[in-house]
Amino acid sequence: MNILSKRSRFASNPIHEEDDLAERLKRSGRNIIKLSTGDPAVYFPTPKYIIKAYIEALREGRTYYSRAEGTEALVDAVSSRYRRMYRIDLNQKDIIVTQGLSEALYFINSSIIDEGNTAFIFRPYYPAYMSNLYLCGGRCALGDYDEGRGWSIDVQKAAASIKRLKKTSRGKGLKYIIITNPNNPTGTVLQKKALEDIVSLANESGLLLISDEIYDEIIFNNARFTSVSKLAAGIPHMILNGASKNFDATGFRIGFVIIPESDPQSEKIKEKIGEYAKVRLSSNTPAEFACAEAMNNVVEHRRSIRYMVAQISDRVNHAVKLLDENSHIDTVRPNGAFYLFPKVDFGRMRLKDDVDFAKKLLLEESLQVTRGSGFGSPGHIRIVSLAPKKILEYAIDRINQFCIKNSKR
Ligand SMILES: Cc1ncc(COP(=O)(O)O)c(C=O)c1O
Repeated sequence: MNILSKRSRFASNPIHEEDDLAERLKRSGRNIIKLSTGDPAVYFPTPKYIIKAYIEALREGRTYYSRAEGTEALVDAVSSRYRRMYRIDLNQKDIIVTQGLSEALYFINSSIIDEGNTAFIFRPYYPAYMSNLYLCGGRCALGDYDEGRGWSIDVQKAAASIKRLKKTSRGKGLKYIIITNPNNPTGTVLQKKALEDIVSLANESGLLLISDEIYDEIIFNNARFTSVSKLAAGIPHMILNGASKNFDATGFRIGFVIIPESDPQSEKIKEKIGEYAKVRLSSNTPAEFACAEAMNNVVEHRRSIRYMVAQISDRVNHAVKLLDENSHIDTVRPNGAFYLFPKVDFGRMRLKDDVDFAKKLLLEESLQVTRGSGFGSPGHIRIVSLAPKKILEYAIDRINQFCIKNSKR
């Protein structure tokens, strides 16, 4: 008998698949540069006012299980944030706090996906969308972010795919569309028009629209971010967000799901996700109190996020400039988050594909990046551009030399 379940094979994460090899190389004395994990807290210390609030929460004895759906202090802080930033009014029950957005994905799929149901996911996608969906017995139908159009969404193509799918028996089990804005791995900030079209598509096809907006304050190059919460009034939708990126607190494990509508479907989902939250009892209580202060202290937050975004923008733009010197690589300039997702011209290289590229880059140049096929887009690599410019300069010089070395003559 196989002790492991069949579904457990989907419990994997391409972002971490080279970690063991990198660790072994490190132990053998190599200095590995890790450009594979999108963890801002490694390079930017979590703001002091947030750390202070965490310590205060501990001192005040806030070490108990908190309300499963989120402590009221944090739920109210999230609600104020959305009123302040997007002018939407939320009730307490519209917000459910989770242990990172990652847990929200698990709760959502567990609540609404039955064996064989389908979700519509655009590629390149954040890998956890896929693993959570598959772990719950779901299947995916793929749309595309269009590289030729700056990784924007090809909504017409998506509409045609959904229409086709709806005519099949599988179409009956189509449950939701998920988008990521700003995007991981491309860093794209979607234009308002594309978002309006996606909202209309979800509405016309009767699908729940989920928008992962975890980088909604990490915007640069004068891009304008629009939250789906501002466009989807009257239509069942969910906004996912958390403390990891905007508040530079990945290790706190705080995320949240927002379900602003009160139609019967939305109410059912809110209630069920709340039940899932109760099954796991509580989020990290002191972190919840710290995150409430993180959001409520607007002056301190503004100061911290402005500094971090200015630094990130400088690093990302510098990295793009250096990569542009590489004739084997083509990069769409990102306007948000902190990832680069260049396309590699494998036709002109002696490397087979992105898997081969990532592995050899680690073995030969001590640089860890992630293969694009892990995000559903082979032929690309993902580079996290959070490190200081000097490190990025060194790393990209290694990538450029590596491409020359592996070029077909
Ligand atoms: C698009 C996206 N969603 C969700 C997450 C996970 O966030 P959390 O740390 O809140 O679980 C990440 C982390 O990189 C991400 O890039």
